[in-house]
Amino acid sequence: MRDWPARFSSYARRLIPSAIRGLAESGPAKDMISFGPGEPDGSLFPAAQIQASLTKLLSDNKRAQEVLQYAASAGHPVLRGRIARYMRDKGVPCGPENVLLTNGAQQALDLVAALLIEAGDTALVQAPSYPGALQVLVARGANVAAIDRADGPRGRASLIYAMSNFHNPTGRSLTLKERQDLLALARERDAVLIEDDPYEVLRYEGELAPPLLALDTEGRSIEEARTIYLGTFSKSVVPGLRVGWLVAPSIVVDKLILMKQTHDLQAGTLAQACLADIFDWVVSEHVDVLRKAYRRRRDAVLEALAAEFGNSAGWSAPQGGFFVWLNLGEGADTRAMLDEATRTGVAYVPGFAFHNDGRGSNFLRLSFSSAPIERIPEGVRRLAAVARAKR
Ligand SMILES: Cc1ncc(COP(=O)(O)O)c(C=O)c1O
Repeated sequence: MRDWPARFSSYARRLIPSAIRGLAESGPAKDMISFGPGEPDGSLFPAAQIQASLTKLLSDNKRAQEVLQYAASAGHPVLRGRIARYMRDKGVPCGPENVLLTNGAQQALDLVAALLIEAGDTALVQAPSYPGALQVLVARGANVAAIDRADGPRGRASLIYAMSNFHNPTGRSLTLKERQDLLALARERDAVLIEDDPYEVLRYEGELAPPLLALDTEGRSIEEARTIYLGTFSKSVVPGLRVGWLVAPSIVVDKLILMKQTHDLQAGTLAQACLADIFDWVVSEHVDVLRKAYRRRRDAVLEALAAEFGNSAGWSAPQGGFFVWLNLGEGADTRAMLDEATRTGVAYVPGFAFHNDGRGSNFLRLSFSSAPIERIPEGVRRLAAVARAKR
């Protein structure tokens, strides 16, 4: 059959590859130093704890049968309870009935977009924003517009998508005032507020303002909330187990449970059981190890940027997360620069990938999460040399 494309649904036709894929045309240099992917450092994965937990879960026959079986679409009951408690500690008045376990925050995003968006609806996003969210919103038929665009669509928006802490790609966290303003905007535009918060545990200094969902539910029940919170174990444990969660009014969770049933029945039973088992250790001990390790890398990147770029560029100084957002100044074209950078042995993500309206060409995202710390100064030196040559 040759007419496959004509048979694809309008949803399928709106699915476009991420702008990040296949960016660099030249192959990577042999000793590439990559600030590209926003993935955690595999050497920090708690493989031994996961292994010990799996051994425990699988060595008892009765337990093994349970954790290898189908399970509830809403998720592992113990893990739902642990997450509800964790969120209550952050000021969110929720119970297990408000928690849905998903295959990563990415699935939660797609489920929520499918729940809320009719083709042509307005979805407002921060500019810049996470490309994986832009991809979802476009595929689900939203008219995606940046919150800060004065010429953007007016009137009702079906949702506002925002990262409250250690934003991808800028690394910035919203101040309390910015959180309150965002909630006011959601009320004004009659929008559901989607709070995506994958980096929250990776805080190196400073204090976090309360989650948008906590501010939204201050003095009232979560059942009144207009905010849906997305969390994940991808940064605090490992992305490969593919477990994330969302917290929402139970009427939303109940509908999404039906959606999970049609999508994939449930998140993996074994992965959830393992996370329920190691949850307390992760929160009380493991995240401290991660914070120390990533903080050193953050410091190394900021030091190298100051040494190599001085006053010739501007950059964010994140208090957590994985990303520094670098501004090379008016006229720079970080997309055009990428090929030369790759040949020179350094990779990054150009700024245009985080916008859907052509902006960002003089910005780039540096992820300091996976480059070896001792290679960071050399990577930034290469980047500065390419940037200077392109001026
Ligand atoms: C802002 C943001 N949201 C969601 C995700 C997806 O996370 P998960 O691995 O839980 O699907 C990422 C992954 O990097 C991210 O940066």
